[in-house]
Amino acid sequence: MTGELRSRAWFGETGRAGMIYRSWMRNQGFGAEVFDGRPVIGIATSASELAPCNAHLHRVAEAVKRGVWQAGGFPLEFPTMATGETLMRPTAMLYRNLMAMEVEELIRANPLDGVVLLSGCDKTTPAMLMAAASVDVPAVMVTGGPMLNGKYRGTDVGSGTHVWKFEEELKAGRMTQEECFFAEGCMARSNGHCMTMGTASTMACMAEALGMQLPGSATWPAVDARRFEIAQSAGQRVVTMVNEELRPSRILTREAFENAIRVNAAIGGSTNAIIHLLAIAGRVGVELALDDFDRLARAVPTLVDLMPSGRFLMEDFCYAGGLPVVMKRLVDADLLHPANITVTGKSVADNVSDAQCWNDEVITRLDEPFQPAGTGTAVLRGNLCPGGAVIKQSAASEHLLTHRGRALVFDSAEDYHAVCDDPALDVDADTVLVIRGAGPKGYPGMPEVSNVPLPAKMLKAGITDMVRICDGRMSGTGYGTVVLHVTPESALGGPLALVRTGDEITLDVGSRTLTLEVDDTELERRRAEWQPPESPHSSGYAWLYTHHVLQADEGADFDFLRGSRGHAVPRDSH
Ligand code: FES
Repeated sequence: MTGELRSRAWFGETGRAGMIYRSWMRNQGFGAEVFDGRPVIGIATSASELAPCNAHLHRVAEAVKRGVWQAGGFPLEFPTMATGETLMRPTAMLYRNLMAMEVEELIRANPLDGVVLLSGCDKTTPAMLMAAASVDVPAVMVTGGPMLNGKYRGTDVGSGTHVWKFEEELKAGRMTQEECFFAEGCMARSNGHCMTMGTASTMACMAEALGMQLPGSATWPAVDARRFEIAQSAGQRVVTMVNEELRPSRILTREAFENAIRVNAAIGGSTNAIIHLLAIAGRVGVELALDDFDRLARAVPTLVDLMPSGRFLMEDFCYAGGLPVVMKRLVDADLLHPANITVTGKSVADNVSDAQCWNDEVITRLDEPFQPAGTGTAVLRGNLCPGGAVIKQSAASEHLLTHRGRALVFDSAEDYHAVCDDPALDVDADTVLVIRGAGPKGYPGMPEVSNVPLPAKMLKAGITDMVRICDGRMSGTGYGTVVLHVTPESALGGPLALVRTGDEITLDVGSRTLTLEVDDTELERRRAEWQPPESPHSSGYAWLYTHHVLQADEGADFDFLRGSRGHAVPRDSH
């Protein structure tokens, strides 16, 4: 440690200001010795009963505190907002940037030398990583862990994934409403976040792959005693990191993001990771482009056989050895940068050198992978998405990856939902469902509405998938042949805004193209007629959001939040 601890600008002060800083803290029963110059560690907890995936984090915080005390630090827990995926309207994504801004400012404004970040539900992990990157104090992430496997009538069911499946069963008349009510409770039977390889599990793995959480952290179930052991270790470790001045800017390098992209391919991770990694990279000034995701992932087979693309769930992944096994397999195949430094103070390769696999069915080997290289998330280009679009091949249907069909266009997901059960809907198995108005500015918040359910008439006819195209996102637990993140979005007048029902659209994932089969002259004529939708938001946070959010290919961060603002101690007004 070369410089003085930040916290000394508060607790090391003499005179009136120092008295104010210390005296009020002592009303919590802290003795004078805690102000002796030991590192002060913030424990940022996004626990909330409104965010069920994070509701248990206060118990994780207790374990972190034990570790901080053991290592000679002074732990102080503080609450942050929690963007719970299930309850927040219109979408939790609208608030990711707000949470990132709040956490960043709370860290900077307080006498903190390091932080442990407690997250769980989808957006809470990237929001905290964005914050840590921008304030750049030593930081360790501890995600709250997945729920135990869902169990319904003798089979494993995955949160999120089985919501879509049960809905289809219900619509097709193969399941009753009573059975659905019963199944609800079977899907969520312990604390924790979704236990499929949805966005929460993906982002927990991304935090570990980036080097921002301790090896093995991503997969321990929320209720497993070892979740609390590892939280305690994180508390111990962050104190040492303060002494080592091991900051996120030393960990979050271009190589770390390349590692994360490849790990995401190997775990069959969520498409949402693309948006979140782009946003985090933007905070540390790492140049990362949408095409990097396609280029880097192409060499990586999917090793982990987890829902929604596969069979198993996070509990199985954990008992098979967890993410360190995947990373060791990639390191051994020269698919990761092995020397990157991580929160352990050691390299990626050192962290995983002892990893052992206990179940090759769950974590397959590179020579016999669950899915071959090149079948992960693809980045598409073409006259319908000049700024790019993505498709998760592993969650799509093979026969639809090359497809030409007639567009059936809806200006919003709500417009589609209003008619999708109508038996007279003019649709067949080849129809391409186009849903627009779901981009970052247009909705606003880029909700997870892209994988709209199939029309009831198609489900009853036994059709299980159709091509859908949207400028919104898809839940990481979702599946289907769904083209996502179409950029620029329709609300900005992107080509998606110009599509009309009856136009032909060609999807060719092999050649990475998405083409609206309408000539340029006609498109120009339509563009001249196009009127931007009027925004209903003239004030408040939604106004701020629509005016400053970037497009999906830049991570949908706010334009004014990109970059690091550092950890300099703010002025003292006492
Ligand atoms: Fe919170 Fe899935 S709803 S992780």
